[in-house]
Amino acid sequence: MLKTHSLIEPQDLTVEEIEQLFKLADDIKHRPLLYQNACAGKLMGTLFYEPSTRTRLSFESAMNRLGGRVVGFSDPGSSSATKGETVADTARMVSAYADIIVMRHPWEGAPKVASLYSDIPVINAGDGGHNHPTQTLTDLYTFHTVFGRTDHLNIALCGDLKFGRTVHSLIQAMSRYEGVSFSLISPPELRLPDYLLDFLKEKQIPYKEVDRIEDAIADCDVLYMTRVQQERFADKEEYERLKDCYILDAEKMKLAKENMVVMHPLPRVKEISTEVDYDPRAKYFRQARYGMFIRMALILSLLEGGYQPKQTRLESTARSCKNPRCICHFQEQPQQMLQVGEGVYRCLYCDYTEKETQ
Ligand code: CP
Repeated sequence: MLKTHSLIEPQDLTVEEIEQLFKLADDIKHRPLLYQNACAGKLMGTLFYEPSTRTRLSFESAMNRLGGRVVGFSDPGSSSATKGETVADTARMVSAYADIIVMRHPWEGAPKVASLYSDIPVINAGDGGHNHPTQTLTDLYTFHTVFGRTDHLNIALCGDLKFGRTVHSLIQAMSRYEGVSFSLISPPELRLPDYLLDFLKEKQIPYKEVDRIEDAIADCDVLYMTRVQQERFADKEEYERLKDCYILDAEKMKLAKENMVVMHPLPRVKEISTEVDYDPRAKYFRQARYGMFIRMALILSLLEGGYQPKQTRLESTARSCKNPRCICHFQEQPQQMLQVGEGVYRCLYCDYTEKETQ
């Protein structure tokens, strides 16, 4: 049984719990018939306020394969969000109908808010440029399956490290394993946010920032490619300038180790040339399939929980969040800039971090 009620950020699961999920996912993969009625009578609510292929369909496939059922929407235009219903009220309502909620939302912190008002587990299926913890479970399960380990890996993260929520969650999750190091490949405009660079420094995790794939590909065990996130850019010209900043092709793959693997959360645009798909080191389609098994394990484990959180009224903090993409700027929500260190404050919803200047 998991200690957490909901999965909002990668650290909601301990390393031991992730290991348990791997074991369960392995068993589900090998003995699917044993689990075909494991969620009979249970209902999943899928609330997708943003487009998705893999995350929504893998969650829905997972629940169907476990014998459960699914209700929800993939177009927020067909929901009462268009009439002004808040995330908090929607979560209250869906928790009156379903047994578990899966939510994707463009506002950072929206699934966290949902979890504060829901009586049933909430799974964050991606919130803006912030986090995507079930993609991270998929990535870790891919490491476990391909390498037989999740430690001692040199991971090169390439592309949009600023808005790429999969990268943000993966860094936080991998920080707990021994012998992990990162190469951060991005143009200056798409560098990893400061709060995550500070996080890497605090945890003393080796990393280097480089401009070119060629500066990191020879040494890495994993090359994790990402799409430039068009939908997060305020300046469309900047997107046009940066969108094709990296293209992995067969020529660059010649520089990589024999046992290196290429991963990508997908969807891909042009950042991986289709010729790479035929290289045995390309694991991104298999990675997406592994996502279904680990999500089956997650659903089963969260539904076993039975813990009901008590809704408490939060008082606003004096300090307010300055992240314009945080849910607290779109819907009335108590400000929650909490002190996390000496002179350091962090938003409960979106992780925006502010340091007091002396
Ligand atoms: N990896 C991922 O989140 O893909 P979708 O946007 O298609 O769900």
